[in-house]
Amino acid sequence: MTKYVIEGGKPLFGEVTISGAKNAAVAIIPAALLVNGTCRIENIPKISDVHLILKILDELGAEIRSINPHTVEITATHIRSTRTSHELAQRIRASYYLVGALLGRFGRAEVSMPGGCNFGVRPIDQHIKGFTAMGAKVSVENGFIHAQVDGGRLHGANIYLDVVSVGATMNIMMAAALAEGTTVIENAAKEPHIVDLANFLNSMGANIRGAGTDTIKIHGVEQLSGGSYAIIPDQIEAGTYMAAVAATGGQVLVKNIIPKHMDCITAKLVEMGVEVEENEDTLLIRRTGPLQKANVKTMPYPGFPTDMQPQITAVLSLAQGTSLVTESVWNNRYRYVDELKRLGASIQVDEKTAVIEGVDHLTGAPIQACDLRAGAALVIAALAAHGRSEISCVQYIERGYEDIAPKLQALGANIRSVEEASESDQPEANIG
Ligand code: EPU
Repeated sequence: MTKYVIEGGKPLFGEVTISGAKNAAVAIIPAALLVNGTCRIENIPKISDVHLILKILDELGAEIRSINPHTVEITATHIRSTRTSHELAQRIRASYYLVGALLGRFGRAEVSMPGGCNFGVRPIDQHIKGFTAMGAKVSVENGFIHAQVDGGRLHGANIYLDVVSVGATMNIMMAAALAEGTTVIENAAKEPHIVDLANFLNSMGANIRGAGTDTIKIHGVEQLSGGSYAIIPDQIEAGTYMAAVAATGGQVLVKNIIPKHMDCITAKLVEMGVEVEENEDTLLIRRTGPLQKANVKTMPYPGFPTDMQPQITAVLSLAQGTSLVTESVWNNRYRYVDELKRLGASIQVDEKTAVIEGVDHLTGAPIQACDLRAGAALVIAALAAHGRSEISCVQYIERGYEDIAPKLQALGANIRSVEEASESDQPEANIG
């Protein structure tokens, strides 16, 4: 097992380049199963979740050719099976996209239920509702989602999502790409990765309109053929480095981003006294004065992202005054707060709201990551804290952040990745 040893209290200076978006990559890679030909996918982040999803495709019989660490070519012409192994699929939340992709292309899918829930109940009823409306029979038996359509091809349908769901929107979009007729998704999610998936599918020959609004129309086509596509930069990775500079002070140029995607995070940091200078595909982040309190409520895009909630809470623990953070997407995403308290943060959680009394400084301590973004929040807090912190269970962090320790080292952080003896009681990473 790996842990991060951080000597905190140093401001960050320099430049950091943002990798491809995890939550786009883990959808676009399964979507390659819809394509009868070779797709070349560029700007893929080098993270363990991507490695896993590629391994699942390989098991199903897709040919995968690695061109360089960030580019693969996937050919899904001779798929051997429409059933995933339990061992791999249950380790990653995004394995549910294999249902939409396999069902859309082959008319059947058997996929292990996605892994355990680390921040509350994570139902997939809206995905199932969508597939059913398109003519599939869907059941959950023996830990597997079984989906099948008589005649092998789904038909278009009007689907109103009861909750704004990223996963259901993308899964239905995939299934509908090759369906007969038109599918309309209403109350669709609008996250940048929804638009990225639609652009990927359209570049392979799909006919999808309205992605990025709350009504998406998918006119089913007979076949998708190959092509080349580059994944967008990761909004949350960029936001995490912005938050790190806010917490430690200093000045960092965050490169390879789409500034528009960052507006919800930029606005909050500016309110907290952080200077943000926007250019075409970079943001310059500077914090010299004290941090001010702020209230934050997580919302679907374009609101403040839930995947930045732990990181902003870590920053606010050092702001002057009392801040309120309200989590409105997940019902249990504050498990990391006890770890921040070990560093000296003063935070009280009452159901969905965290009340944060800013403290003058944090002090280093041994702490443990409990999920991906929680882990990122602990890294931020440890970078700002006086003294030494040791963060364990960093396999969660490495599921979604490419080379986080080297990237921070390049900004002057004193962070080392250290191997420690494996302990059987360390949990597997299984959310996302
Ligand atoms: N929901 C339902 N029924 C469904 C689907 C969702 O009730 O069928 C509810 C959920 O319980 C939740 C809300 O709808 O309260 C939103 O869930 P959503 O479906 O949008 O989440 P997801 O697709 O499972 C993705 C990201 C998460 C991110 C959420 C919200 C991936 C692989 N995961 O999850 O990312 O928090 O959208 O933006 O794309 C992360 O990257 O750290 C991460 C957890």
